[in-house]
Amino acid sequence: MEKLSISDLEIEGRKVLIRCDFNVPLDERGRIIDDTRIKAALPTIRYALGRDCAVILMSHLGRPKDKVEPKLSLKPVASRLGELLNLNVAMAPDCIGPGVEKMARELKRGEVLLLENLRFHSGEEANDEKFARQLASLADVFVQDAFGTVHRAHASTAGVPRYLPSGAGFLLQKEIKYLKQALEDPEKPFLAILGGAKISTKIGVIKNLLPKVDSLILGGAMAYTFLRAEEISTGSSMVEEGEIATAGEILKQASREEVTVLLPLDHVVAKRASEDAESKEISEVSIPEGWVGVDIGSFSIKRFSSAVKSSRTILWNGPMGIFEIDKFSKGTKAIAQAIAEATKKGSVSIVGGGDSVAAVTKFGLEDNMSHISTGGGAALEFLEGKELPGIAALKDK
Ligand code: 3PG
Repeated sequence: MEKLSISDLEIEGRKVLIRCDFNVPLDERGRIIDDTRIKAALPTIRYALGRDCAVILMSHLGRPKDKVEPKLSLKPVASRLGELLNLNVAMAPDCIGPGVEKMARELKRGEVLLLENLRFHSGEEANDEKFARQLASLADVFVQDAFGTVHRAHASTAGVPRYLPSGAGFLLQKEIKYLKQALEDPEKPFLAILGGAKISTKIGVIKNLLPKVDSLILGGAMAYTFLRAEEISTGSSMVEEGEIATAGEILKQASREEVTVLLPLDHVVAKRASEDAESKEISEVSIPEGWVGVDIGSFSIKRFSSAVKSSRTILWNGPMGIFEIDKFSKGTKAIAQAIAEATKKGSVSIVGGGDSVAAVTKFGLEDNMSHISTGGGAALEFLEGKELPGIAALKDK
């Protein structure tokens, strides 16, 4: 069922409260390392400003544990947002209380106010009713645009929509559109590429995707647990011993569903997973004792890339190797390039999960994908087929 959106709401000239996900990475001096999430919020903010609204923004940043942590103030976000919007973004000293209420009351049309980190109060994560009411009292209308946080049942996601007319912002709508299309109506052949370190965090996603995909590529350290399930030795590679049986069951389910599973058949291996360690490429599928798998090998790159190029819908979550280290990044880079090429030829590509998004950005291919999700955990839970509380809280159309 489709949810009410910002375009369905009467917002002209009103006070609008927008929940954004401004949970951006900061360096040790508090500077923003990656402003993707701030840029992703701009279409909704600009739309509200274009409709003469007074705009109040709220977000969390990090995990401050219910108390004020000056390092996790949203002040750097207010400055960056001001630069991007080319106007002054006022910073509130808190997110609730008389001072904030006064600032919100006095906020004029065309002005923007950013509330301080919601998680400085325990009421946010506890989804406290009083806290949600206090936030809601600041505005006339609520817009949910924090896709990255809609899997949390917090006051600013599940609580506030109970007290205000509410709708989904443009970022949330776009995220839902792409992820839903992949799950419900993908153009075939549909390929899912799953990688990253741990199979345990991806089991739900794999199980939900198996009945829908035509092929499944498994890469990254996760692949070694699957290889072990096939009784292939993986040397000193990272393996989740407790998940080998589950990996075996998944492979059996895939074969029942007639899904083609592609696992790496050759590897780049190293003595240790570090930049200065001795490393080499091996053409065998089994990894010798004393060596750690750190990337997929050249043959696997070719095989995976050709699967990518013959697919019409490609969903990618998780890198193929330790791409942060240049000499182990070849596999991840090649897959990203193959996806970019397929996208140019009309395939739909969806990239989700912090690491694969970082990889796409590292290789400068972020404009070559159909959709890059701003959600990590939220995208995974969506792909698991779970109902996300921040979306469920919005009214159906
Ligand atoms: C994220 O970065 O995934 C979201 O902002 C949610 O943050 P959280 O995992 O701290 O709830």
